[in-house]
Amino acid sequence: MPLMPLIELDRCPIGRGTFTALGCTELAVFRLADPDRIVVADNACPHASGNLAAGKLSGCIVQCPWHHWEFDLERGVCVNSERVYIRRYPSRVREGVIYVDPSSPIRVTTVQDGNLSRNGDCSALEPHAGEPSRACSSAVRAGDS
Ligand code: FES
Repeated sequence: MPLMPLIELDRCPIGRGTFTALGCTELAVFRLADPDRIVVADNACPHASGNLAAGKLSGCIVQCPWHHWEFDLERGVCVNSERVYIRRYPSRVREGVIYVDPSSPIRVTTVQDGNLSRNGDCSALEPHAGEPSRACSSAVRAGDS
């Protein structure tokens, strides 16, 4: 699926999450600072569907406002338990608009017995079911085109 327009960049303050939706898919756009970059992820916290876009953002860590689990947006994993992760999506910024491909969650690598191995698409994995994982960087510089 091609990239689809999601939201204007200037509606996403730096250092915060912004709730948005693409059809029925609720997404959170996190605009990280230093450098200015974007991570697009599912808005629902994998614990109990808390609103991650409203979470406190510190560096690349977002804290869920409901029960305070923390997620590393660069890696896509929960800081409290790397067996839990959030689904992130490829994104681009073009002419002031953030585009996302909701059909292609970012691939992850899993750590098994100390060795990195490729796993399938994130879409094949269910929250709470993954092995400790390390994700490819999903951050897109806000000025990228
Ligand atoms: S719903 Fe996010 S930590 Fe519980």
